[in-house]
Amino acid sequence: MKQPHQIVKQKPVLINYQYGSKRYFKRPDAEDIATIKKIEEMDIPYWYPTLRMREGRESRRNDKIGLTHVHHYFYKRTLYALSKLYDLIQKSECKDLLQIWFTSQIINISKMNRFRPQVSFPYNPLSGTLYVSSMVSEANPFNAYEGKIRKFTEALSNNKGNTYCISTASTTKLDVQENSIDYIFTDPPFGANLNYAELSFLWESWLKVVTNSKYEAIVNPTMGKALPEYQTLMTSCFQECYRILKPNRWMTVEFHNSKNAVWNAIQEALQRAGFIIADVRTLDKQSGSFKQVNNTSAVKQDLVISAYKPKNDLTRTLHESAGQSETAWAFVRQHLANLPVIVDADHDGKIDIISERQAYLLFDRMVAYHIMNGIPVPIDATDFYKGLDEKFLKRDDMYFLPDQVNEYDTARIKMDVEPIQFELFVSNEKSAIAWLYQQLDTPQTYAELQPKFMQEVKSVDRYENMPELSVMLDENFIQDDKGRWYIPDRTKEGDVAKLREKNLWKEFESYMNSKGKLKLFRSEAIRVGFSRLWKDKNYQAIVDMAERLPEQTIQEDDKLLMYYDISLSRVQ
Ligand SMILES: C[S@@+](CC[C@H](N)C(=O)[O-])C[C@H]1O[C@@H](n2cnc3c(N)ncnc32)[C@H](O)[C@@H]1O
Repeated sequence: MKQPHQIVKQKPVLINYQYGSKRYFKRPDAEDIATIKKIEEMDIPYWYPTLRMREGRESRRNDKIGLTHVHHYFYKRTLYALSKLYDLIQKSECKDLLQIWFTSQIINISKMNRFRPQVSFPYNPLSGTLYVSSMVSEANPFNAYEGKIRKFTEALSNNKGNTYCISTASTTKLDVQENSIDYIFTDPPFGANLNYAELSFLWESWLKVVTNSKYEAIVNPTMGKALPEYQTLMTSCFQECYRILKPNRWMTVEFHNSKNAVWNAIQEALQRAGFIIADVRTLDKQSGSFKQVNNTSAVKQDLVISAYKPKNDLTRTLHESAGQSETAWAFVRQHLANLPVIVDADHDGKIDIISERQAYLLFDRMVAYHIMNGIPVPIDATDFYKGLDEKFLKRDDMYFLPDQVNEYDTARIKMDVEPIQFELFVSNEKSAIAWLYQQLDTPQTYAELQPKFMQEVKSVDRYENMPELSVMLDENFIQDDKGRWYIPDRTKEGDVAKLREKNLWKEFESYMNSKGKLKLFRSEAIRVGFSRLWKDKNYQAIVDMAERLPEQTIQEDDKLLMYYDISLSRVQ
C-alpha cells in the first residue's frame, strides 16, 4: 500500500544540454517542466530497491530531508533507467561483471552529485559520506555508463590471462588453507575513519546483499564498537592472515594514521597475531616516495607497514628455551636476516639508516616478541646491548649478520656518502633521548645543543613531565673535560643505564605510593616501572597503575599498551 511521504522539495532551475559538439545552459521552460511531471507520474515496471536505509549516523543522515529509503536517493528518471538496466543485466550471461559496472556509477548519478559549475568533471559527490547538498546536479546515466565501459575495457585488456579469485567474506574467517599464501597486501579500515557498511548500503541494496556489521572492524558508537572492539576484530583478521601465510613470508599493511591510539591498536593487533614488524614508512602519495619513521611517535600520515611471519624453528626455540637468553638472540638473528641490508628509498644515492637495525629498536622488538608470546624476557637492556656488540657486526650504528656485512661495506664504498638519519619527532622524554643520541654522534656542549633542542621540541605530550635538557644529559650521557657531552661507550654505558633505571624506578615507586589519578608524570618512569613489575610477574600492580593513568597515555604508547593488555588478560 502506498504511504504518504514527506520529502524536501527540489526545483529544476538550470538545464545543461548538448547540441552538436557544444554544451549550453538554459532555464527550464514549460515543456521541460511538463516532461518532468509526466515522468514523475509514471509507474516503473521493473524492480528497484525500496529498503529503509540501514541504521547508523551516516546512513540515516538524510532522514531529516526525507531521504529515508534507498530509492529516494535517485531522481525518478534515473531510477527508471537504472531499474531497466538492472533487469537486462540479470538476464545476461556476464551478470557478475556487468553488476560491477552497474554499481560503479550508482553514487555519481544519485542525488549526492553536487552542482559545482567551476569544476568541469561531471561527477562531484563528496566521498566517504552520504551528504546531499542543497544544489544538486542530475547526471545523465547513459553518458555515465558509456564512459565506464571504456574504462572497464581498458582495465580488462590489461589482464594478461591471470586467474584471480574475489571474495567478500570477513577476514576474521577465511576459507583458505593454512601456510599456503606467498604474500599478503592489506588495506584495513582505520578506526573511526569511514563507516563502510553504511556507505555501501546504496549499492548493496541493489545487489540484495548487506554487509554483516558484526565483523566490521571499525570504531562506530551506533554499533557499540569502540577502540578495544576494533582492536579485537583487527587481531582476529591478522590471526587469519598469519594462519594462511607461509612461514618466513611477508605481509604489507597500508594504513592511514589519523590517531596515535588507532595506530597502536593496529601494531598491537599485528604483534598479537604473531607477526614481527620489520619496517614502517610514510608514503607521500603525491611524490610516490617512502620515508622511514620512528614508529614511536605521532605520525598522522599514510603508513606502509612491513611484517613477516617467523620461521617455524624460531617459534620452536622460543618454547623449548623459554627463560634462556638464547630466545633473545634467536629472535635477533631471524630479524636481522629478514631486514634489508641496503635501502635507498629516495634513489638519491644515499644509504638510509635502517632504524630496525639499531640497538634500541632491536631491543624493543625483542621485548615485544617475548611478551606477545607469553614467555619471560630473558635479558635486560644492558646485557642486550653488550651481547649485540659481541655477537653481531656493527656499521653506522646498525647491526648486521656476518654474511650481510660485506654487501653493506661494498655499497658504502660505492655510494661514498654518509648515511642519512631518519626523522625524529620529539614529543616526550624517550624521543628526546633518541634525538640526543643522534646529535651526540659528534660531542657537543650544552650551549651548542640547547638552541637546536628548543627548535626540535615543538609540542610535548599532554601528560608528559619532561625533564630539563640538563637532567636528560646528566642521566644518559657523559661529559668530557672540555664540557662536551658524548655517548658513553657500550661497556660503561651499562653503569649509566643502571643508575638511570634506579632513579626512574624510585620515581615510579613514589607514583605507586600516591593515590588517585596521575596528572603529570615521566612516561619513562612508567615504562621502567611496568617492565620491572612484569619481570616480577606483578600483573595486578601494572593493571592498578594503568587505571590511574589517563586512558590516552596507555592507548598512545605501544609499550605501555602491550604491558597493560597482557597483564589485564592474566589478571582476569
Ligand atoms: C581502507 S578500506 C579498503 C579500501 C580499498 N583498498 C580501496 O581502495 O577501495 C577498508 C575496507 O575493509 C573492509 N572491512 C572492514 N572489516 C572487515 C572485515 N572484518 N573483513 C574484511 N574486510 C573488512 C571495509 O568494509 C572497507 O571496505
